[in-house]
Amino acid sequence: MNNFPGLNKWDILENIKIEKLIFGWQWFAKLEHPNPEHNWKTILITGWAIPWSIVNLRVLRKKKRFIETQIVEIIQKSPIEKIHKNNPYGESGGWKWINIPYENQLEIKQSQVKEAFFVIEKNFWKQDFLEIEASPIEDWYRNKVEFSFWKYLSNAEWIEEHFNVWFHKQWQFSKVIDYDWTPLIGEKQNQIYREIKKFCKTLWLPVYDQKKQEWFFRHILLRKAYFTDEMMILLSFNPEYFDKNTKLDKTEKLSILKDFFEKLAERYSEIKSIYFSHNPNKADVAIWDLELIYGKNSIKEKILWLEFEISPTSFFQTNSAWAEKLYSIVLDFAKNKSWVVLDLYWWTGTIWMIFAKSGAKKVVSVELVTSASKDWEKNAKLNNLKNISFENTKVEDFLEKYLETWEKADLLVIDPPRAWMHPKALEDILKFDASQMIYVSCNPATLARDLEFILKNSSYKIGKIKAMDMFPHTHHIETVVSLIK
Ligand SMILES: C[S@@+](CC[C@H](N)C(=O)[O-])C[C@H]1O[C@@H](n2cnc3c(N)ncnc32)[C@H](O)[C@@H]1O
Repeated sequence: MNNFPGLNKWDILENIKIEKLIFGWQWFAKLEHPNPEHNWKTILITGWAIPWSIVNLRVLRKKKRFIETQIVEIIQKSPIEKIHKNNPYGESGGWKWINIPYENQLEIKQSQVKEAFFVIEKNFWKQDFLEIEASPIEDWYRNKVEFSFWKYLSNAEWIEEHFNVWFHKQWQFSKVIDYDWTPLIGEKQNQIYREIKKFCKTLWLPVYDQKKQEWFFRHILLRKAYFTDEMMILLSFNPEYFDKNTKLDKTEKLSILKDFFEKLAERYSEIKSIYFSHNPNKADVAIWDLELIYGKNSIKEKILWLEFEISPTSFFQTNSAWAEKLYSIVLDFAKNKSWVVLDLYWWTGTIWMIFAKSGAKKVVSVELVTSASKDWEKNAKLNNLKNISFENTKVEDFLEKYLETWEKADLLVIDPPRAWMHPKALEDILKFDASQMIYVSCNPATLARDLEFILKNSSYKIGKIKAMDMFPHTHHIETVVSLIK
């Protein structure tokens, strides 16, 4: 059957107005077609443009009810587009939405969450969605950034860039553009980043070549606790560079670097911890064999009434100010703070700690990643928390055992990974018959799908739904839903 007659693969659809951004990476428009049967059918679009831009599109695939296309040209900029005052470099992977005014970003995210719910159940329109919670800070909200040292040599483009430092280009991992600044971190951190970069350049040591697996500089990692201002710096490099370049004195070069960092810390009092990371391996990761070269081995962060020690390997929510908001909302949604709480997928451990501190009879938490448990033990001690227990296993394996042997849970807090929650886990959470469940999700589509299952297979009803913006200038959305019997 010829869907959309008169329209072929690779045809260009001209002057199409982008109606909206669907969650993730797809845009949406309506087709104007002479055949009334096809007129106003859906066009799905990949590429990048701000809603209400007018674009030309290339047809990639024709399906029965929609056409898949790709943006080839932006003909007219969106009326809402506004060049962000703090961003001289234009849109980039980490801040793709930066030229969409913040109030419009929030509107788009709120409607994306509503639509995800609407797809599974038309009646969701009647549901009360609480107003989306904006991030307390719009720019400079990241407490952790990782810059890469990279070289970019391209015969085709006549480019020879031997010492680039910044982020990898979106969709083009082989390229790092050399910039001195990012809107993701505060001015002080940007300044420190520039100083480190400038100094490293003066040492005349080459940046690591990922293909050849040789040479020296690899990453700069900066962490900064939002509520205490404490900063951590990590420089990663390949220590084996000196084995092949025996004319260079490894000890001398590393002590020059150490000396520079010590002096840097004397000038910036917020720098509390500095590490070298010795990574001779192919794996392009900042954290490897760690050597503390200055100060304490961790920095302190305070969220609500809790203290956290953050080491280079610690998991921690990237936007601390926002994390505080999220956790307050989860706590506020809980009907009874003295219940037995089961915290599934705990990652940074903040949710269970907050319940443990707020008078929960007991908190049992489950997480797959083992290294998270080291932080767990340390932070539990630091905050004097005793009514807790921790399981380092898969949620889907744990639930069945817990149901058989342990006491019941009254409140389940569930915060699964973006992709999905295991179907067995989804079935098992219903067997607890808990008085309340609070589902925290960073993916409205899987959230809606899981809620559909829960609502069909139990007597839970949705109490409150609140979307939250953790990552301004990006497509990410967090949603908290309270389910009650
Ligand atoms: C969205 S994060 C949770 C965030 C956390 N609640 C917080 O506030 O920091 C999802 C977590 O689930 C963990 N995870 C993924 N699959 C898992 C599984 N099958 N069982 C247990 N944990 C899992 C990941 O390691 C990750 O830490």
